[in-house]
Amino acid sequence: MNIKGKTIKLIQFCAGLLLFVSCNQASKTEVTLKDYGSEPTVINIDAYTMSNDNFRTALWTGAKLQTTLMTIPVGGDVGLEKHPDTDQFLRIEEGTAQVVMGDSETSLTFVKTAEKDFAIFVPAGKWHNIINTGDKPLKLYSIYSPVEHPHGTVHRTQEEAEDAEHQFITKNYYQMNIELIQLPYATNALEPVISKQTIEFHHGKHLQAYVNNLKGLVQGTNFENTDIETIIKTSDGAIFNNAGQILNHNLYFLQFSPKGGGKPSGKLAQAIDAAWGSFENFQKEFEAAGVGLFGSGWVWLSADKDGKLSITKEPNAGNPITKGLKPLLTFDVWEHAYYLDYQNRRADHLKSLWAIVDWKTVENRY
Ligand SMILES: [Fe+2]
Repeated sequence: MNIKGKTIKLIQFCAGLLLFVSCNQASKTEVTLKDYGSEPTVINIDAYTMSNDNFRTALWTGAKLQTTLMTIPVGGDVGLEKHPDTDQFLRIEEGTAQVVMGDSETSLTFVKTAEKDFAIFVPAGKWHNIINTGDKPLKLYSIYSPVEHPHGTVHRTQEEAEDAEHQFITKNYYQMNIELIQLPYATNALEPVISKQTIEFHHGKHLQAYVNNLKGLVQGTNFENTDIETIIKTSDGAIFNNAGQILNHNLYFLQFSPKGGGKPSGKLAQAIDAAWGSFENFQKEFEAAGVGLFGSGWVWLSADKDGKLSITKEPNAGNPITKGLKPLLTFDVWEHAYYLDYQNRRADHLKSLWAIVDWKTVENRY
């Protein structure tokens, strides 16, 4: 090769080096962590995943598919959960994990180790968790179909993610369409307080029947595309009864958790003490109201517009929202809620429910 040839080679090498350096710099400087919505987007997913230090950052949220970035700290986990209608794909960009899946929270029989460059496929309806078993943060991205989290979601920590989940549930059931809610726990998760059989009948048969009835009743009426809260406040007769039972049961089922129990905290705890002297006195009064309710109905803890609390009894499908109160906690005293497990022992059933009340959800309603 002559001098000219060597010079050209050197220029080509330098140009290549410059391009390499500038491309690398570009990929580093171009990482802007945000939700790109449903816009056409091309990015270096590895660089984005490595740049994310939040527990969860939504990166792209379309109509039917969503990508989020996750960082799980050493010793942490994604959190045991189930997406009833959402398939999920995850890819690990850094770290080591144990992946568990199963048909129930207590039967996670699928166990695999996964690390950098591994993909994880989670079918809809499977309980699953991903645990960081390595010695550095686990960096991964996740694709959901359909979309799982609101557009623009950023959860800096797992605790923030759990709070947001509670708030989402709390805020959204009033505006829900007429559909059967998905339970945020397995049907046997509340045992021994409420049996799997009772949950299956109560949620799968009774609540489903109210949903089916209301769908049929509103067809062709002004209520057809109206949210549950508006229907309850403006209807009567069969439409009111079925709509009331849907909201009441949504509030009821979503206030329980297998990790429930204990006492409320913060503002709600203070308001309970102010109204009844102590949490124990409040529990006694609440149980007594439930036991004393004649026939079928609901006992409620509600707040007025100033935050003052009260216990009320409502027959049949009644809900405190018709009296301008905000419902916080409710026990269902229809026999279908307890007869399979407790027969005529309504008082025993009501007393046992405290062990599964998820106070975080109730506090969020306040
Ligand atoms: Fe019920």
